[in-house]
Amino acid sequence: MINKIIFDKVSLNFGTFTIFDNLSVEFRAGQITGIIGANGVGKSTLLKLAGQFIQPDSGLVTAFDDDKVINRIAFRQKIAAITPSMSLYSQLTALENLKFFTKMRDKKLIDNEIDKLFNRVNLNIENKNKIVGNFSTGMKQRLKLAILLAVDSDVWILDEPGSNLDECGKHLVLNEMKNAAQNGKLVLLATNDNDEAEAANELISLPIN
Ligand SMILES: Nc1ncnc2c1ncn2[C@@H]1O[C@H](COP(=O)(O)OP(=O)(O)OP(=O)(O)O)[C@@H](O)[C@H]1O
Ligand SMILES: [Mg+2]
Repeated sequence: MINKIIFDKVSLNFGTFTIFDNLSVEFRAGQITGIIGANGVGKSTLLKLAGQFIQPDSGLVTAFDDDKVINRIAFRQKIAAITPSMSLYSQLTALENLKFFTKMRDKKLIDNEIDKLFNRVNLNIENKNKIVGNFSTGMKQRLKLAILLAVDSDVWILDEPGSNLDECGKHLVLNEMKNAAQNGKLVLLATNDNDEAEAANELISLPIN
């Protein structure tokens, strides 16, 4: 299982704008690490670096699988993410989206599991065969959560996972995050939400640039 991600003297610039300068930090499995800070400080960018979706200009981001370095391609297979920029296919049904994203990760879902997932995220089963384009934003967020749970990866990258969710939905996210961490997953959470930040075992507050 992925047990840590280490940032070693990571620097990243967007043009002349330096977003991270020699950042060294370690993220460990079995806990929720919350990344907080004002809009635009770099929370989402830090998650992208941690997931190795983008590369730093200098320094290293290294992931460890049972204490052994794992390469970027293999690491990607160990990540599940919810981000505001992740899009569902609006012309496909909820079920088709769920199947598409899980199939990409070689997970086979049986009908019984699918219904359980819909229940788990409180999405009415009747929505299974409706196209996602007609879903409310909160329903789409719940479907993203269902996909994350279905993929069931070692690393959870959560960028504002409670956004657009009602109180019940927010609780659902908090519970799932805590369970995941207790089950040894490495949970990275970028948030502007106080309740989510409180659920974190460790908080990293990014300074305004
Ligand atoms: N690909 C990019 N090219 C240029 N600038 C970028 C790029 N990605 C992010 N930035 C800039 O980096 C800064 C940090 O963005 P980021 O999305 O990480 O902030 P954030 O802390 O997640 O903010 P929010 O709370 O609003 O989600 C912003 O100024 C943003 O415009
Ligand atoms: Mg962000």
